[in-house]
Amino acid sequence: MSEKINSPSMSVYETILSRRSIRRFQQKPINIELLRKFVNAARVAPSAANLQPLEFFIVTEKDMCSKIFETIGWAGYIKPAWKPDKNERPTAYIVILVKDITNKYYLRDVGLASENIVLAAEEEHIGSCILCKIEKNKIQEMLKIPDTLHVDSLIALGYKAEQVVVEDFKDSVKYWRDKNEVLHVPKRKLKDIIYVNEF
Ligand SMILES: Cc1cc2nc3c(=O)[nH]c(=O)nc-3n(C[C@H](O)[C@H](O)[C@H](O)COP(=O)(O)O)c2cc1C
Repeated sequence: MSEKINSPSMSVYETILSRRSIRRFQQKPINIELLRKFVNAARVAPSAANLQPLEFFIVTEKDMCSKIFETIGWAGYIKPAWKPDKNERPTAYIVILVKDITNKYYLRDVGLASENIVLAAEEEHIGSCILCKIEKNKIQEMLKIPDTLHVDSLIALGYKAEQVVVEDFKDSVKYWRDKNEVLHVPKRKLKDIIYVNEF
């Protein structure tokens, strides 16, 4: 497939627009320094009261990636049930860990940190998918994460091996695949979600 190559000078806005959730990946490893860079982007994300309740666990090791893969629910709207083939699985994961779930804003921090990660990845032409439909207890055990930390979510990463396009929302929010395996993601139109000075 032809992969879209972003220009190195892509603006933040262009990066935001071009990012899509990617669920099929080339089996080419991601340099660990890039993965560290993505976590660094998360480190400096906005944080309520600057409490910084998040920590990040990078997984690149093949066996561990295979075990994590088994805990994930992929693309719930695609029927019949679907998951990436063996040769298109993520090559890395970033596990988002929370050290204080009594912090009432921690989920906002997770959202902001996750977006920083996926945008930093997009800028490097690396695809990503935020994943919350996961078996957290299994991941906690598998990675020997201490009880003082809570597994919140995963971000799957890898070089892109699928084409995803945005289309205008009509009557359903469900993403779908066409006969060429292109994933279509409906997004509500700007005019339907925006108010300027009055309703
Ligand atoms: C909080 C959150 C949880 C998600 N969990 C999953 C998941 O468990 N499995 C999955 O395949 N995609 C998951 N996604 C990806 C969404 O399906 C995706 O963001 C949505 O379809 C819009 O597509 P886009 O990211 O390309 O704009 C999740 C996204 C978010 C923000």
